[in-house]
Amino acid sequence: MKGKSRHLLRATVLAAALLGGTAAAATHPWMNPAQSPDARAAALESQLTQGEKLQLVHSLFGEPSPDKGLPKPAGALGSAGYVPGIPRLGVPALQESDAGLGVANPLEVRPGDGATSLPAGLAVAASWDPAIAYAGGAMIGGEAHAKGFNVLLAGGIDLEREPRNGRNFEYAGEDPLLAGTMVGAAIRGIQSRHVLSTIKHYALNDQETARTTVDVRIGEQAARESDLLAFELAIEHGHPGAVMCSYNKVNGDWACENDVLLNRVLKGDWKYPGFVMSDWGAVHSAAKAANAGLDQESAGDAFDAQVYFDAPLKAALASGEVKQARLDDMVHRILRSMFAAGLFDHPAAKAPIDVAASMAVARRAEEAGAVLLRNQHDLLPLARPASIAVIGAHADKGVLAGGGSSLVLPRGGNAVPGLKPTSWPGPVVYDPSAPLAAIRALAGKARVDFASGDDVAAAAALAAKAQVAVVFARQWAAESVDAADLALPDRQDALVEAVAKANPHTVVVLETNSPVAMPWLDRVDAVLAAWYPGSAGGEAIADLLFGKVDPSGRLPITWPRDRAQLPRPVLEGAGAPAGAPPPASVDYGIEGADVGYRWFQRQGLQPLFPFGYGLSYTRFEQGAAKVALHDGLPQVSVAVRNVGKRAGADVVQVYAQVPGSTVRRLAGFAKVALEPGESRTVQVALEPRLLSDFDVAKQRWVLHGGDYALYVGRSATDLAAPVHVRLPARD
Ligand code: BGC
Repeated sequence: MKGKSRHLLRATVLAAALLGGTAAAATHPWMNPAQSPDARAAALESQLTQGEKLQLVHSLFGEPSPDKGLPKPAGALGSAGYVPGIPRLGVPALQESDAGLGVANPLEVRPGDGATSLPAGLAVAASWDPAIAYAGGAMIGGEAHAKGFNVLLAGGIDLEREPRNGRNFEYAGEDPLLAGTMVGAAIRGIQSRHVLSTIKHYALNDQETARTTVDVRIGEQAARESDLLAFELAIEHGHPGAVMCSYNKVNGDWACENDVLLNRVLKGDWKYPGFVMSDWGAVHSAAKAANAGLDQESAGDAFDAQVYFDAPLKAALASGEVKQARLDDMVHRILRSMFAAGLFDHPAAKAPIDVAASMAVARRAEEAGAVLLRNQHDLLPLARPASIAVIGAHADKGVLAGGGSSLVLPRGGNAVPGLKPTSWPGPVVYDPSAPLAAIRALAGKARVDFASGDDVAAAAALAAKAQVAVVFARQWAAESVDAADLALPDRQDALVEAVAKANPHTVVVLETNSPVAMPWLDRVDAVLAAWYPGSAGGEAIADLLFGKVDPSGRLPITWPRDRAQLPRPVLEGAGAPAGAPPPASVDYGIEGADVGYRWFQRQGLQPLFPFGYGLSYTRFEQGAAKVALHDGLPQVSVAVRNVGKRAGADVVQVYAQVPGSTVRRLAGFAKVALEPGESRTVQVALEPRLLSDFDVAKQRWVLHGGDYALYVGRSATDLAAPVHVRLPARD
């Protein structure tokens, strides 16, 4: 028997067993896994009552909601969302948990029950390695399944237009190709564990300031070539079961009742077969939202003005304002995604978790995604110094996590409890993976001392006595708030300055949401951007500092010198005093599709560190690029050699300049691991949409043809002379 048929037979037997025998399977034809998800959904729909259909199109808040006087719904595990099942037909309940870094365990519901957190989404993106993203997705999907959750509210992919956005740590950077590839791989990983994943927040939810009211203004071509392209690519790679529409308005219409975004682009042009789920509190109507393409209202009982997809939708159906066919389509989309992700055939249930295996995945992701920004005099990797002063950021206790709905409660609890804010968008949580202990473990006989950094003079005195000083700097960020500027908080710049003055061999490790200003940069020898490092972050940081692994992360964002370089030097409303009116709109037409490095090119600006940049402990040489056409599209091959003395990984980045444009776009990339002296030729296929423009009049991508300049190198600005290739025009 072939592998696939054996698998199908097993699944059929399993499904029959779950329904209480083969007789039940015969009466429940949708339980036959040999059928397509669409056929199974169609068979099941025909059995549903109107009441059951309405039950499927809105979830309940899965936690108690004291201000609304709502208890935890019966049957809910206690998480962000819950849709009761339909036992008579074998339809499982949807148990929905946040988020993309791990299984969030709301503190108030399940104290003591932790999960494994990946490092920040930016760290995973900085690995430039889809296998890292996939492994991370499979790990968190596996933990979700073993905790009884079958939906992960994951797949954060809003582009980084705004380094001050409090949720950048949940996302995958500024470039549509990199973000789309990495987030798509993470979603595939999650769904490989029979957990349905969302992709979110659709769309252009690129700042938290006034997120529930702001109207994002952007032209269609610019949107299609930037934020929407990231979604388009990730959906193609990952096939998420649901798309979560966002809080904000886009060009005047709420994202969750936006006919252009939902019906025309997502379901029309991209032929997306899954369902659109609203963000929590993002629904403003019944008929308009349903007709614009929203399929399921999330937790409206706790977050919306009313549960629109219950009685109001029923009334709209009765009046004919919403057609029955639309409700049936909503139900079909939900069920077909449940079948496609395996929710019927592989029900989520409590099971033991291999914590050590999960932690190894989280550690590997941080090792692959931390970015070495500076390394003067080859201070790193640390060469057995006699003494090390470790300073700041609670490095004796753990590593910082970002706040909000994505927060993963660590096993063993918060390493630094009590820091403010202690309630939403707090608590501030540190994962109990202490860099100090991990450094001591690798430091051999070296004396390793710690200073909290609260007393700057004491920290400087400790640094003065040590051979090397490692200062940890932190910037907590969270959902629902943006930073007003790029500065490190709490006078940490003064701490770094003082330590650097006391010790010429100073390393700074940044645990930040995104880029921060580094006024002291020239006075320190080394800087490692560790992002939010995740459950095994302390160990990963030590591995990198001591060279147990080579830093191979490359920036998924441009690191600006200061906010004057940004398209919006002032983020209107961020950090504004309470009561200040929120900005009504934000203009993303300023940079349009030229987000991040493309904006810097267009304006002729030199960033502090460019997109794609990152140092290694070894050195690579990239040979001359060769271009061959396959089906009229270029494939670039480049020989890469590790000419240093350590194993490491290089990222070959190919940027394309299309005829008539002055900016270069990342069109393909490949990461290659090489032993010292080893050489390999990597092939990089270029994504045709990055060689094309979106033609709004024709409503499709058009590759105009002509002379394309292809630049190969290691960052958006470190590029060899271009190779020119003539491409034929194509639609
Ligand atoms: C966030 C979503 C999250 C949801 C459920 C919202 O506030 O924007 O990302 O999935 O809450 O917790």
